Amino acid sequence: MTALSSTDNIISKASAHTIKKFELIEKYVEEWAQILLNYEKCNQLVFIDCMSNSGEYYDADGRTVYGTPVRVSHVLRKAAESYPHKRIDLYFNDLSQGKIDHLKSLVDKDSHNFSVHLSTMDGNDLLRRVGSLLTPGQETHYLLVYDPYQAAIDWVALMPFLNNWGEVIINHMLYDSIRATKLAKRETTISKYEQTYLTDIENLIPYGNDKAAYEARIEAIIHALHRGERRYYVAAFPFFNSKNAIVYNLIHCTGNIAGFKLYKKKAWQVFGGKSSTKNTHGLENQLSFLFDETDSYGTRTDENCYYVPDIAAYLQSIFRGRRDVPLNEIWSLLESHPVFPSDGFRPEIKRLLKAEHGAIIGRSSVTFSDRK
Ligand SMILES: C[S@@+](CC[C@H](N)C(=O)[O-])C[C@H]1O[C@@H](n2cnc3c(N)ncnc32)[C@H](O)[C@@H]1O
Repeated sequence: MTALSSTDNIISKASAHTIKKFELIEKYVEEWAQILLNYEKCNQLVFIDCMSNSGEYYDADGRTVYGTPVRVSHVLRKAAESYPHKRIDLYFNDLSQGKIDHLKSLVDKDSHNFSVHLSTMDGNDLLRRVGSLLTPGQETHYLLVYDPYQAAIDWVALMPFLNNWGEVIINHMLYDSIRATKLAKRETTISKYEQTYLTDIENLIPYGNDKAAYEARIEAIIHALHRGERRYYVAAFPFFNSKNAIVYNLIHCTGNIAGFKLYKKKAWQVFGGKSSTKNTHGLENQLSFLFDETDSYGTRTDENCYYVPDIAAYLQSIFRGRRDVPLNEIWSLLESHPVFPSDGFRPEIKRLLKAEHGAIIGRSSVTFSDRK
């Protein structure tokens, strides 16, 4: 008998960064559902995790941890009870029958307005089926989680979801691509990367270890596949493992700024007031000489892990010397920022503007100092 690989295990180990991923999706869904169920035009929510796994894991101490489908089923079952006139449908699917059988024992039971649909097939086939039923109206809001173990993305299956009313969360497995693209020899492996990045392998080899090149490629594909005229919002947050290597980006895609704002807020809250799971070893608060164009003293900034003081410093750089800047103007600048949240950290940002940058905080406006 051959040993089971970690992908075959029904209950496998979840590392700390994976548990953060479950938390982020759970917390996002909680508030997403509340907002939409309160919205008069929305009659139905659809949540899909087309590569759902078994729903159960154990952590580094051997304790049970639940995955996305179990958490989301609990959250949405409660929401269905509070909104008896609205429908909630959940689709969970995995290639493994054993995993889906196990998940069945963990998800909440159906009710008159809440149904869990379980299946065992290629997740991309499920998306093709569900995708062909999507309508452009606003009565049904869906959220699709696309979460493979490898950098394998079927864009044709995702297309309808990027182009209808709803949101998509894609796990971009950077670790896999950075490590393996340059070594890919087998035809199936090469075609996996070519399909994911929609380009020939020769164009990917020069990316080497440059994670930003892979990230930019994926973001460009998302924007190219979205056909609508309205702005499309894409927010990506990196997840680092305990060795501080990047494992994946969890990318949220939406045509609605409210979803974009909410995802940024939830990511920063789940990471504990920063923008990733990276361990910056306390260096973020240390004053040091910056060998940059300013050649001044300041705190270090890590573009893979921003902290709330980085938000305050950014605002100071934009509004330096301006008097009575309305708070609305400040928060709306943050709304469209790709990483910084506009909600969830306002008191802390104001406190830092005053303490670190000499700003005068008024009831509805801020006067910024001249400091650099
Ligand atoms: C990263 S895990 C999913 C974790 C889950 N989304 C969660 O958050 O709890 C990836 C799962 O995808 C399944 N899988 C991989 N490729 C698949 C495919 N093409 N179709 C369906 N399932 C797939 C694997 O069996 C594995 O259970």
